[in-house]
Amino acid sequence: MEIRTITFSDIKNVHHLIDEAFGQIDEAELVAKLRHDDDVIVELVAVMKGVIVGHIMLSKMCSPIRSLGLAPVSVSPTHQGKGIGSALIVTAIAQAKQSQWESIFVLGDLNYYSKFGFKENTAKPYSSPYAGPHFGAIELIKGSLQKEGVAAYAKAFSYLS
Ligand SMILES: CC(C)(COP(=O)(O)OP(=O)(O)OC[C@H]1O[C@@H](n2cnc3c(N)ncnc32)[C@H](O)[C@@H]1OP(=O)(O)O)[C@@H](O)C(=O)NCCC(=O)NCCS
Repeated sequence: MEIRTITFSDIKNVHHLIDEAFGQIDEAELVAKLRHDDDVIVELVAVMKGVIVGHIMLSKMCSPIRSLGLAPVSVSPTHQGKGIGSALIVTAIAQAKQSQWESIFVLGDLNYYSKFGFKENTAKPYSSPYAGPHFGAIELIKGSLQKEGVAAYAKAFSYLS
């Protein structure tokens, strides 16, 4: 399996993959809006035998400064449970760290994301409409999330129901 940055010619297949993974169009539309707004920092695909089987996006958050939002991550239903989602998350975190991003927030099942270091406690000082047991964060630079503040996702998230 190869993990690489998305290219223009992947976009249609990625849209279909996200739609299929979530069983609804909302997340694929979110991804399109984030691209349109130029808020995407990391966008990777996982490719097996020439077929795109996974996708992940990290987008710029409005605040705190130098924070990214992880969403969505999608793996084709026929390829789930084989480590593809984990490989995408680990690679995306590494790329963000390499580019000196300070932290990443995530909204999702922390039973899954805690494996990669995301914790509810790390996100707690930050107010967000998503705050609670499904809202976590990871510091890429130690101590970067120790102040209080607002964790505001990019504008495209406001269209999500
Ligand atoms: C969530 C998702 C990206 C995981 O990808 P994946 O390639 O199947 O995940 P991996 O193979 O790396 O990891 C599988 C492990 O995660 C666990 N896991 C998967 N989804 C989970 C969830 N929502 N909560 C807790 N654990 C979960 C599996 O039980 C498995 O555990 P194990 O390794 O102990 O057996 C994939 O299932 C998916 O696309 N789901 C639909 C879209 C979605 O919900 N995305 C996440 C929200 S943005």
